[in-house]
Amino acid sequence: MRTFIFAFGVLCFTASGFADAETVNVEMTVKELELEIDNAGTKQSMWTFGGTIPGPLVRVRQGDVVDFTLHNDKANGQSHSMDFHAAQADVLDEFAPVKPGKTKKFKFVAKVPGVFIYHCGSDAMSEHIARGMYGVIIVDPADGYGEALPRPDREYVIVQGDLFEEGTKPNDITMGIGWKASLVNGRVFHYDPVHDANASIALESEPGERVRLYFVNASINESAAFHPIAGIWERVWDNGNPKNVLYGMQTVDVPPAHGMVFDIVSPADRNSNNALVDHRMKHALNGAISVLMNYTGADPEKGRNGNLILR
Ligand code: CU
Ligand code: CU
Repeated sequence: MRTFIFAFGVLCFTASGFADAETVNVEMTVKELELEIDNAGTKQSMWTFGGTIPGPLVRVRQGDVVDFTLHNDKANGQSHSMDFHAAQADVLDEFAPVKPGKTKKFKFVAKVPGVFIYHCGSDAMSEHIARGMYGVIIVDPADGYGEALPRPDREYVIVQGDLFEEGTKPNDITMGIGWKASLVNGRVFHYDPVHDANASIALESEPGERVRLYFVNASINESAAFHPIAGIWERVWDNGNPKNVLYGMQTVDVPPAHGMVFDIVSPADRNSNNALVDHRMKHALNGAISVLMNYTGADPEKGRNGNLILR
C-alpha cells in the first residue's frame, strides 16, 4: 500500500525510512522446460523464473519493501534459489536453495536505486545462470530522476546471456567449454533482422527520441562491451544510479552480473538505425546484436506502457 501520511505539515516516513514507500508482492515459480532459444524456433532444455528468459521484470521505487515468494515446482529436478542483487540480506538464509515442491518467502527493502540482476544461486551457479535463471529488478530513485536523469521517450530492457551446447557438464560451463552463442532476452539475434532472416522484432523509436536501455549482463564469465553502432551513448549511469553519470560514451564494459543504464538520442531530422552490440566480436557475431530503428511512424507501444522487454 502506498500511503501519504502528513502530520503537522511534516511528511512522515514509513518503516523503510523512505517517504511514500509501499510493499510490492513478487511471486515467481521456477520452471524447467524446453524453450525456443532462436528465431527459427530451435528448442533447448532451459531453467527459468516463470517460464521465460529473462524472468519477469520487477520494478519498484527506492524504499519499497519487496515481499518475495519463490515456488520451486514439484515437477522440477533441481533445487533453485533467488539472489536479488538489489537486496541486502543473508546469503545462507534468504538466498538459500529451495527443493522441488517447496516454497520460500522473504522480504527486503530496495534501498539503493539502479538496475540490478537477479539470478538463481543454486549449485552449480554457473549452470543455473547459463540455463536462463536470471532477470532484472529496476529500483527507481525515491526522489525521481529530476535533471540528473531526463525523462526518456521509450525504455527497453536488454539482458545478455550465454547459450551452451545442450548437455554441457556444469564444470565445463564454468570453464566456458561448450559455449555456443549469446542470447539477447533469451534468443540468439533476437532483435536483428539484418543477421537473422527469422528475426521479426526490432527495437523502435521516432527520430530524435531519447531511448533508455536498461542493460544487464547475465553472461557467466565475460563482460559485454556495449556500443551503439552509428551512435554515441548520450549518457550512461553505472549501475543505473543517478549519481554515477558518464557523458558521450562509445563503448562501456558491463561486467558479468552487473547492470547499467544507457541513453541514446537519434538525429531528429532523419530516419536512422543503430545496431546495439556487444563489441566483443565473438559475442556480437554469435547473437549479441540488436537493431534500433529510429523512423517516423515507429510503433507507439514499443518501449512504452510496460513493454520494456519485447517478446
Ligand atoms: Cu536454479
Ligand atoms: Cu550474483
